[in-house]
Amino acid sequence: MSFTDRRILAIRDLAAGETLADACRAAFEGARVETLSPDGLPASWPSGHEPELVVLDAGGDLVALGEVIAGLARLANPPAAILAGDHLPAALVRALLRLPRADVVEAPFGPRELAEAALLLLRPVETPAAPPAGGRCWTVTGAVGGAGATTLSIELAAALAERAGGKKRVALVDLNLADGATAAYLGASANMMLGRASQAPERIDAALLEVFASPAPGGFDLIAQTRDPHGFETVSAEAVMRVLETACQVYDFVIVDAPRHRRSWSLDVFAGSDALLVVSELTVPALLAARALASELEADLTEGPGPRIILNRLAKRVFGPAPSMGEAEKALGRKADGGLTSDWEAAAASVNLGGPIRSHRPGSRIAKDVDALVDRLLAAAPHPATAGVPPAKTSRAA
Ligand SMILES: Nc1ncnc2c1ncn2[C@@H]1O[C@H](COP(=O)(O)OP(=O)(O)OP(=O)(O)O)[C@@H](O)[C@H]1O
Ligand SMILES: [Mg+2]
Repeated sequence: MSFTDRRILAIRDLAAGETLADACRAAFEGARVETLSPDGLPASWPSGHEPELVVLDAGGDLVALGEVIAGLARLANPPAAILAGDHLPAALVRALLRLPRADVVEAPFGPRELAEAALLLLRPVETPAAPPAGGRCWTVTGAVGGAGATTLSIELAAALAERAGGKKRVALVDLNLADGATAAYLGASANMMLGRASQAPERIDAALLEVFASPAPGGFDLIAQTRDPHGFETVSAEAVMRVLETACQVYDFVIVDAPRHRRSWSLDVFAGSDALLVVSELTVPALLAARALASELEADLTEGPGPRIILNRLAKRVFGPAPSMGEAEKALGRKADGGLTSDWEAAAASVNLGGPIRSHRPGSRIAKDVDALVDRLLAAAPHPATAGVPPAKTSRAA
């Protein structure tokens, strides 16, 4: 969602100067930002000229601000409102929150905080008339750092989108909330703002998910948030689960790139998935980590799918003392459920150009290996959302 041509009114005391108006101009790029003092608010606006959002500077005269809020409440269709500032007076906040769409932004704040609050308030309210009955959710996580979880997540989403040919909707949700790489790998925007949404998780619905989603090369939607060192701390388990539940209503397929370190919500995400893929590589430490992680998950997940191990970066010719597949499965204490061939050129070219490997290097073995894995996962348990999704032309027998 963009702010272009949105009508935004900044209300500030003359004594407070232009700080709020400047912050609004920086936050709402392309919007028509007007500034008024509290006593300049008209009783009504001509039709089509009403502000869509009013931003109030809490630093002004409290009585005058209270009157502005009361004036907004009297309008037949009150605009969205944000009260921004330091030491927000409780009475004013109470009055503000009685408006149908209102939020507070506490100092210190910058354009980003204002924009985030405004996006949530201005999002469209309609929800799709008939969302799909419930999409299929496959979650991917790594046994060790750099194993290839993000790469596999992107390739699964792209493979499903390619098969569906525009007839089914596919989303990739990046739950690496502090430093997710999907947006950078794809050259797509990261629009999710889960920290703010966590303050009112009940507001997370299909319309808000549309705001969070951005189209990614490969024909699917990306739901990811920008780098934020506090990304995990500001997010509640309820908000994460609502995003996933809503995504499963809106999309036919949801691929989750899940963080390797367990969060308070990780087991809920895994248990709610139709498949749980643990990506490892063919080194002894990675195999031992995959074995340990798979055992932990089996012990801790009383419901939901069992973990499946996918071995990544399998080399045709092995340089150095890498374990053979047989030795790898011995170290794992189980059979691997899939493998991806190593193809550094294809992987590097794709992340540098931005997009899935199957778009930039359709002939890569990685694309074929992912097709085979998708075939196996689709065959694993019939699901209404997958009816009519054809097997890939290039897939090998499972
Ligand atoms: N099969 C493959 N062949 C060659 N390179 C690969 C392959 N799979 C992944 N890579 C590369 O390995 C690197 C790490 O991959 P990726 O980021 O997907 O791992 P990750 O498990 O998500 O890492 P993190 O722990 O940081 O989340 C990337 O540069 C990626 O392009
Ligand atoms: Mg990753």
